[in-house]
Amino acid sequence: MTKPLTIADLKKMAQRRVPKMFFDYADSGAWTESTYAANEADFRDIKLRQRVLVDITDRTLETTMIGQKVSMPVALAPTGMTGMQHADGEMLAARAAEEFGVPFTLSTMSICSIEDVASVTTKPFWFQLYVMRDRGFVLDLINRAKAAKCSALVLTADLQIIGQRHKDLRNGLSAPPKFTPKHIWQMATRPLWCMEMMKTKRRNFGNILGHAKGLDDLLSITTFANEQFDPQLSWKDVAWIKEQWGGPLIIKGILDVEDARHAAETGADAIIVSNHGGRQLDGAPSSISMLPKIVDAVADRVEVHLDGGIRSGQDVLKAVALGARGTYIGRPFLYGLGAMGKDGVVLALEIIRKEMDITMALCGKRDIKDIDSSIIAGRQ
Ligand code: FNR
Repeated sequence: MTKPLTIADLKKMAQRRVPKMFFDYADSGAWTESTYAANEADFRDIKLRQRVLVDITDRTLETTMIGQKVSMPVALAPTGMTGMQHADGEMLAARAAEEFGVPFTLSTMSICSIEDVASVTTKPFWFQLYVMRDRGFVLDLINRAKAAKCSALVLTADLQIIGQRHKDLRNGLSAPPKFTPKHIWQMATRPLWCMEMMKTKRRNFGNILGHAKGLDDLLSITTFANEQFDPQLSWKDVAWIKEQWGGPLIIKGILDVEDARHAAETGADAIIVSNHGGRQLDGAPSSISMLPKIVDAVADRVEVHLDGGIRSGQDVLKAVALGARGTYIGRPFLYGLGAMGKDGVVLALEIIRKEMDITMALCGKRDIKDIDSSIIAGRQ
């Protein structure tokens, strides 16, 4: 294949390189995947306003997210088991993001640990927290993120229970995991992936490994994690987490105006309008369709970010036009990682940056900070 030009090209490459069960893990949504599909489709319905004969020299995409400088308003979203798309995946993605000048967010459910990522980066990264029933463990994670000098805590609010993803169940990627001859065959047909994986020792949930006695194999860790998501998590816990953390806090998984108001009241620095990439409540609206209402309700009090369905620089620009200060990409960087390792993540970011830059110019704008709803022509 010639050099990938789009995120869709990277996706095709990743599909050929990553064992099916792990590619499907990245590529799946909950139940009928209708929300997953709507996240992407609703971006396509938004039309841009073409402007001509205005000076478009000296363009810049630089801005800030929660007051931190970013080379473009795109961060890497937290994604679990990233180290299964490519060996040492979180470390590679973090370095790609650092090179690019955008934030990397490490998931609680990552394969590489907080300390692994800190050991290969020179700038602060962000840490995503799942609140577990075991608050001692939560506190331990917060303290480890502090020790690693993480510059934001992303608190995920939309996973108190796991949305069912049929592909994962059909592939047997459930807890407890069962490695059947089918899985071994899937891995054997991806020799490059296997070779890389054999070179690394990081094949388990790095942040959980060794947390408690007996938590040292994939089965016990996965079982522990699934039992640990806390169905009683409430706004009161957010105040406790904010106090323990003491740094910039981002609440992720807000899709409702009323919840956005609650989140703004907690004094969070930002919220992420998100439906977990369509992996939780199937049938929920797309993130981009909810963005304008949430921006209207709370953007004067809290920074509003968005993720879900971004597949191009045009999508980022549309989200910014509708009021998002920043955006996040999940699957696009995972496809890049699966396809080409660190270079693939850099390429995914380059593709998005180029598309955003050209689109901004053709809309007659030079500075991302000047982007507003005036670049939107309407919806179809
Ligand atoms: C996720 N997401 C996620 N979110 C989170 O807060 N913690 C996590 O561990 C994970 N894990 C995870 C794994 C995989 C494979 C995917 C695809 C997603 C959700 C993620 O942060 C983000 O909300 C979505 O990925 C955004 O949608 P797109 O960009 O993938 O369409």
